[in-house]
Amino acid sequence: VTAAPTSALRFTPVTPTAPTFDDVVVPEGYYARTLIRWGEPLSVRAPAHNVWEQTPQAQAEQVGYNCDFVGFLPLPFGSNVSDHGLLFISHEYTNPELMFPNYDFNAPTRNQVDVELAAHGVSVVEIRRAYDGSWSYVRDSQYNRRITGETPIRISGPAAGHEWLKTSEDPTGTVVRGTLNNCSGGKTPWGTVLTAEENFHQYFGNLSKLDSSDPRVAVHKRYGIPAETTELQWEAFHARFDVAQEPNEVFRFGWMVEVDPYDPTFTPVKRTALGRFRHEAATIGIAKKGQVVAYSGDDQQFEYIYKFITKGTYNAKDRKANIGILDEGTLYVAKFNDDGSGVWMPLVYGQGPLTAANGFHSQADVLINTRKAADLLGATKMDRPEDIEPNPVNKKIYIALTNNSARGTEGKPGVDAANPRAKNRTGHVIELTEAGDDYASLTFTWEMLLLCGLPSDESTYFAGYDKSKVSPIACPDNVTFDNAGNLWISTDGAANAIKYNDGFFVVPVSGKERGHVQQFFSSVAGSEVCGPEFTPDNRTVFLAIQHPGEGGTFESPISTWPDRVGLPRPSVLTIQAFDSRVIGS
Ligand code: FEO
Ligand code: CA
Ligand code: CA
Ligand code: CA
Repeated sequence: VTAAPTSALRFTPVTPTAPTFDDVVVPEGYYARTLIRWGEPLSVRAPAHNVWEQTPQAQAEQVGYNCDFVGFLPLPFGSNVSDHGLLFISHEYTNPELMFPNYDFNAPTRNQVDVELAAHGVSVVEIRRAYDGSWSYVRDSQYNRRITGETPIRISGPAAGHEWLKTSEDPTGTVVRGTLNNCSGGKTPWGTVLTAEENFHQYFGNLSKLDSSDPRVAVHKRYGIPAETTELQWEAFHARFDVAQEPNEVFRFGWMVEVDPYDPTFTPVKRTALGRFRHEAATIGIAKKGQVVAYSGDDQQFEYIYKFITKGTYNAKDRKANIGILDEGTLYVAKFNDDGSGVWMPLVYGQGPLTAANGFHSQADVLINTRKAADLLGATKMDRPEDIEPNPVNKKIYIALTNNSARGTEGKPGVDAANPRAKNRTGHVIELTEAGDDYASLTFTWEMLLLCGLPSDESTYFAGYDKSKVSPIACPDNVTFDNAGNLWISTDGAANAIKYNDGFFVVPVSGKERGHVQQFFSSVAGSEVCGPEFTPDNRTVFLAIQHPGEGGTFESPISTWPDRVGLPRPSVLTIQAFDSRVIGS
């Protein structure tokens, strides 16, 4: 008989830091080290990073910008080792004003734009922990790989080959150049990673030049495609980012992308069955009868929460047999009732309002315009769904709703029980329990776990825990769990909301300590905290420090982290205890 997992946390919480403070803070007894930074070469032949001579060729062989998702995949696959593995890192976006000297927002150069395209996507890198505990990456590993905004990616599932996915470059509608705005993601039990295309809309400009009678215009509007030029102006150099020239290219973004990091020759695949929206992530639970269930949120104000249930079942004996299982199944959207119950409503062509009368002629149509389908079903409009993840210990699903300052303002939806605060600046966390603790259930119950903010703010709630003992927390973004089932939360936006730097927090979800939020880490000026990811032994945690120094420029920096000279660099760091104890224990 194994002992019940303990939720005992014994570290001394860190004191939050002011938004101008430019160093990381960890609890006494712990240390943080930078593992890998933007620009580090991922092969022997790749050049060292030189900010004064950046080229797309070099960037395509170096770590990308703005690290977000971090996944640790033990080597070999199937082992549970904690000292050797692959790190899967997504690169959400670029900050050209921090990357390039003398960057001009009114006149970006072709070289800058192409470096940015190469700095997006994903890095896969082999890492090892040495006897002294220090982590480093293996520069000449056969596994190291970059996937960029230009890497060929296959499109699969019901929308593959759809008329609206065809472009002049790809008349088949099945192969796309690159993946963009890769935010968070999730590991599958078969060793692949799902990486989310989040704010893809911002790369595609000039919608107003498309004839308004074109049926594609309404769809592009629903997804927020800019009417005029984009901020980054990639469309000035690449016709595919100009909606007036290539009205369909944007339909090829906004999907979940599956990558097999254990196979460096694997062609990544956009899995259209999971729907098209501003995916924050997709995280997996295996249902009682073996179906694979993927949870995903659409991160915009008043958007929805989804889950996908596969038709087939997970094969634990043959990992490769599962690659493709996400192409067939049913997508659902969540309705949260005010009485604490909820339902998952199917987004299936021909059912309910999803018919020709509303412009849907196939399941592909439903998936390409997932948002409209969910509108028609009356799904619950949420306060910006970020990470949503099943807790492997108690089987409940935790949902980070980061903030929504428009809630309850003029012309916008008012409050409801699941989004109970008007002008919600600080966000909340919902705990969802599937009926029968089965991820395939179509009904659930839910309760509020946290209403974030300063504990002195009367609208906050910490599962009933004594507010005088909790750390201030705002804008929950990414979540993960330790082996005891404690919920760990990283934040994005606290500097605006509560005037502290973003951080990394833990909160037990059961027992007397339920709701006791404690801050474990505080980040640097201008950054948000992503990852987070534990090694299987929970003795190392990886955090991605995204956009350090945002708000400054190359010429007027507000951060020099981590190098303390020159530019700030988005980087993945490790945190460990000096005595290698389990993190937080
Ligand atoms: Fe890229 Fe929703 O955070
Ligand atoms: Ca996020
Ligand atoms: Ca997560
Ligand atoms: Ca974010």
